[in-house]
Amino acid sequence: MTFEELKALDEQYVMHSYSRFPVAIDHGKGATVWDTAGKEYIDFTSGIGVCSLGYGNEGWVSAITAQASKLGHISNLFYSEPYARLARELCTRAGMANVMFANSGAEGNEAMIKLARKYSFDKYGKGRGTVITLHNSFHGRTITTLSATGQDKFHNYFFPFTEGFRYADANDLDSVEAVAGHDVCAVMFELVQGEGGVLPLDKAFVQGVADLCAKRDWLLLIDEVQTGVGRTGSLFAFQQYDIQPDAISFAKGIAGGLPFGGVMANEKCRNVFTAGTHGTTFGGNPVAAAAACYVLDTVDQKLLDELKEKGAYLREQIEAMNLPCLGATRGLGMMIGIEVKGEHTNLELANRLIQNGLLCLTAGPGLRLLPPLVITKEEMDKGLAIMKAALS
Ligand SMILES: Cc1ncc(COP(=O)(O)O)c(C=O)c1O
Repeated sequence: MTFEELKALDEQYVMHSYSRFPVAIDHGKGATVWDTAGKEYIDFTSGIGVCSLGYGNEGWVSAITAQASKLGHISNLFYSEPYARLARELCTRAGMANVMFANSGAEGNEAMIKLARKYSFDKYGKGRGTVITLHNSFHGRTITTLSATGQDKFHNYFFPFTEGFRYADANDLDSVEAVAGHDVCAVMFELVQGEGGVLPLDKAFVQGVADLCAKRDWLLLIDEVQTGVGRTGSLFAFQQYDIQPDAISFAKGIAGGLPFGGVMANEKCRNVFTAGTHGTTFGGNPVAAAAACYVLDTVDQKLLDELKEKGAYLREQIEAMNLPCLGATRGLGMMIGIEVKGEHTNLELANRLIQNGLLCLTAGPGLRLLPPLVITKEEMDKGLAIMKAALS
């Protein structure tokens, strides 16, 4: 099928809730992908932070195919080994008590919000279901996670939205106190606001909120959907903030390209979900769980140390280019934001980079890079050379 034929099918049969770049990707290896006409691109996106081990990773493919030929699905009514192994690995490495599996980031957050509301209901009864989130945050596209998202542009069309969310300013503890009341059960935020523009939170603010949560018995909920699974240089970003949250959500990179997500909770919340209080048909699917076990085995300390260096290298090199359309970089590990300056928008710059063979993302008013964690120096240098030539 030519690109034009493929595009025509998409135009006719797909709901247009996305504006796509004019490229159809066919296959990939490492951090390099090829379109249907055979043109090569360096990938600084990982499918929006999902393909943590890049494309065509042989161990990942073997883990999936072995599990698929043994048992593709069985439901949550039965035990299965990949499920149990993954639960142990995740909880051990995150210092958490237990986990509930889902299929996406929004579902992980939805489960985390339900967990907080039920924790509070069980202990204090009705009337304490409000969750404080931050302005400029992003937590997903379900009606409830849109409510949790602290950006007005997401609070449109789909009325009525779920009640019980209040928004505070990032890095401003007074603002959190100002919206607090007797009805609060939790505070929820991303440690690096991803969709909002790659904005890392201050450690003092995060620790201040953690203290406030402990004092008032609010749950501290961290959305690690984008920051988790090594993306920021530790398995989860909270491990760089010297806090131990009550619950964290995860998704995106966990299964290296298969749909997966969930929420982990600490000892205090171990028994909040009881049989029948929450569930999902596909959550913990054995093939996706086997893929996730393989991803976690691969994301070891050595890989985490290396990716911190790679992230620092990319930022240094981009800043050293001194391009008139790009300003300062920011971020954590391999989650990188670049300020956009001058007359061109971030979308125009992204389009130009993609046309020239470098896949990249936008976030807030800037550019965003989320390369596969395993990207090589050679691939980074190719991508940087494309950036310099395309934007000079
Ligand atoms: C921080 C954060 N939370 C939640 C989500 C929603 O995840 P999903 O698209 O898998 O539902 C995203 C997606 O970009 C995200 O970045």
